[in-house]
Amino acid sequence: MIKSSEIRAQFIDFFKNKEHTFVKSSPVIPQDDPTLLFINAGMNQFKDIFLDKVEAKYLRAVNSQKCIRAGGKHNDLDEVGKDGYHHTFFEMLGNWSFGDYYKKEAISWAWELITQIWKLDKTRLYATVHHTDQEAYELWKEVTDIDPAHISYHGDKDNFWEMGETGPCGPCTEIHYDRGGDFCGVEGDHNCNVNGDCHRYMEIWNLVFMQYYRETDGSLTPLKKRHVDTGSGFERICQIIQGKDSNYHTDLFMPIIEAISKISEVEYDPETSVSHRVIADHIRCLTFALADGGMPSNEGRGYVLRRILRRAARYGRNIGLKEPFLYKLVDSVISVMGDHFSELAEKREYIIMIIKAEEERFNQTLDKGLEKFEEIASNLQNKTIPGAEAFTLYDTFGFPIDLTNILAEERGLLVDMAGFNQAMEEQRDRARQSSKFSMDIDDTEWVFVEKNQQTQFIGYDNLTCHSSILRYALDDKKIVKLVLDKTPFYAESGGQTGDKGEIENDNFLVKVFDVKKVADNWIHLGKLVSGVISGGQVIATVTESVRRDIASNHTATHLLHSALRKVLGPHVQQKGSLVDSKGLRFDFTHFNALTKEEIGQVEDIVNNQIRKNNPLQIEVKSIEEAKQTGAIALFGEKYGDQVRVVSVADFSRELCGGTHVHSTGEIGSFKIVSESSSAAGIRRIEAITGDKVIELIRQHESLLHSVKSHLNANDKNIEEKIEKTLDEIRELKREIEELKAKQGSSVINDLVKKAEIINDFKVVISEVKVDNPNDLRTLGDQLKDKLQSGIGILLANLGDKVSLLTVVTPNLTKKYHAGKIVGELATILGGKGGGRPDSAMAGGKDIDKIPAAIKEAKLLIQKMS
Ligand code: ALA
Repeated sequence: MIKSSEIRAQFIDFFKNKEHTFVKSSPVIPQDDPTLLFINAGMNQFKDIFLDKVEAKYLRAVNSQKCIRAGGKHNDLDEVGKDGYHHTFFEMLGNWSFGDYYKKEAISWAWELITQIWKLDKTRLYATVHHTDQEAYELWKEVTDIDPAHISYHGDKDNFWEMGETGPCGPCTEIHYDRGGDFCGVEGDHNCNVNGDCHRYMEIWNLVFMQYYRETDGSLTPLKKRHVDTGSGFERICQIIQGKDSNYHTDLFMPIIEAISKISEVEYDPETSVSHRVIADHIRCLTFALADGGMPSNEGRGYVLRRILRRAARYGRNIGLKEPFLYKLVDSVISVMGDHFSELAEKREYIIMIIKAEEERFNQTLDKGLEKFEEIASNLQNKTIPGAEAFTLYDTFGFPIDLTNILAEERGLLVDMAGFNQAMEEQRDRARQSSKFSMDIDDTEWVFVEKNQQTQFIGYDNLTCHSSILRYALDDKKIVKLVLDKTPFYAESGGQTGDKGEIENDNFLVKVFDVKKVADNWIHLGKLVSGVISGGQVIATVTESVRRDIASNHTATHLLHSALRKVLGPHVQQKGSLVDSKGLRFDFTHFNALTKEEIGQVEDIVNNQIRKNNPLQIEVKSIEEAKQTGAIALFGEKYGDQVRVVSVADFSRELCGGTHVHSTGEIGSFKIVSESSSAAGIRRIEAITGDKVIELIRQHESLLHSVKSHLNANDKNIEEKIEKTLDEIRELKREIEELKAKQGSSVINDLVKKAEIINDFKVVISEVKVDNPNDLRTLGDQLKDKLQSGIGILLANLGDKVSLLTVVTPNLTKKYHAGKIVGELATILGGKGGGRPDSAMAGGKDIDKIPAAIKEAKLLIQKMS
């Protein structure tokens, strides 16, 4: 049997021989496209070429792209496990023409590869074309020997491909494969059709003729050039070529399925083992997503990953896997895919660690959630789980909605999805309201001085320069936005904040407080301090001290990163950073809080590096070269072909576009000021450098000084004095308690003396003086003991409210329920309350009603008698 790895190589070689450049698969986590949850097609990384934003370095490309379709426009999550050819993660083989060849070559080459290299049976192949695309229809007849009866027209749903809600799109032609009548799966009267509703015909290759852009308003704008974008499901091709009846039975999945059988000790049965298949699919998806920088979390793509993991964990329970097990399957994925995708082996330990921690976290709530589900299911009036209950399972027990759906389906129940979505929407509204207002640069009404020009950044080597204004905007609060042709200002990026400074000429002065980068324009945000803005020449100057502090903190961040890896291990990965003039914040993967010793070690290592005063080396290299030298590339960063490598001797080497000190000695000193958890499996360190460390020491000194003078202590005896003072306080408190108790018992004696006899038991109704409700309760307990047989109703004026307490001795509680008495009296006092039959408390706000309540209390007891 030909191996899947050979099939992949055949595809790539075929197009290489037709002058296509092989381009590596981009990471499955989108690097800079907010419109996408995950990479969902091979063309994603070429989007900017289609949109004419960047020029293609080659006219033809080929690759095998890692894709996830588990959210957004292309979402196959719910199909997974139901058939043998939908996946959350899959590979898409593709070839591209960027304004070069078009329909004719695309169709004839696809046909050549399928029929001559892969030798698929022509009588089983079918082509579909868009109903408006007669050209493609004719080409199929002209340039291939497909059976003309196998070509058919279809509508937008099947033959118009779009990347997302907006983005490049166009009509397409698809190739489908007839797997035979046995695969149909539909019972009764039914005709199998291409694009029909059964499993007989399977789409294997989509050739898209990219020619439009879908705008946000739904309209289509033609692209400047016409391109070809194709995508062929690798797993499906393997199924056919390897002669299998399901993608899961190819060599891409079977080793993973076998590993699942081994761990669960449940044999795989092709007929019934849905769980094995779902788990095999999901673990591939998780392994790739984590290798490329994904992370389970509560929002966006992180939440999709969490759902996938929890879905897999739940299916594991169907085959008896209660303990975390998914992490044990990572090696089987690496053994199948690791050769072509080397990032999997590189990130192995990290992937295993994250999956295991996430499984443990879920297991902690799963059992409680299942119990809650049982409770909900058994109390149903009808067969539908209300949306609000599904939301509780989601919100409190961490059940993704698809998990609730699976559980419901297993019991023949439905979930009120509309109600769930509404509850979800309400929660989002609440979150939205509390989220911060952000400055929306895209809405700016610009005054253009010069169009179509970009900003040149010269700030690595200069802090000031002459430049010209390209465009500007001014609002009524004198907030200015300025774009210059040249700037020394660093724009916020890679966690480093924008520079501060001034932009001025003879007409105006602007104080710049932030700088953002949008496409290749540096937008300086500032306050117009004087004058009137118009176009022209300006002098732009960065404030040196601020830049120096930011640079110190940025270089210190690199040193910290390396020190953490040395102290904690190579699993430490940067997960986020913030560098400004005040300090630095660094988020990284690690599971436990750092000990005091570890923090000390990290500080020592960094300070040692500072004292070595090594010069920073900054070089621009190709990305491949940079990685070979061991430079740390960060998740979530998009690197061009040329990258900037920032090194400190052999201690630290990172790809980074930020500004740094010339040599480490400039940082002066480094101190960690806090260490905390930022999310599951992610720690956060905050630290300061240079003058700020001295400032902190001074602050601590003055604090200590003031504590010493309050305690009349010195360095030697301060701890002893604090101990002594605390002891004294404890002793005084004890004495006060004793006194109160004594005082209480004399109050009680007085009260009991004044008790009235109603129905041969004693009734005490009185206002008393106490400081708080707690003391009132203590008094009540003492009174109850003393009364032996009776009722006590005590009221206390606490300044801003009334506290009311009723106690009833056990022999009387059947008839006189303290809770009920309190409830009635509380209404008089403008409050609410209740409690046990023998003792109950309430509060009210109407202090002046105390006499009325006392009167009513007496009547009430008489009434109850
Ligand atoms: N971009 C096309 C698809 O994903 C080829 O089907």
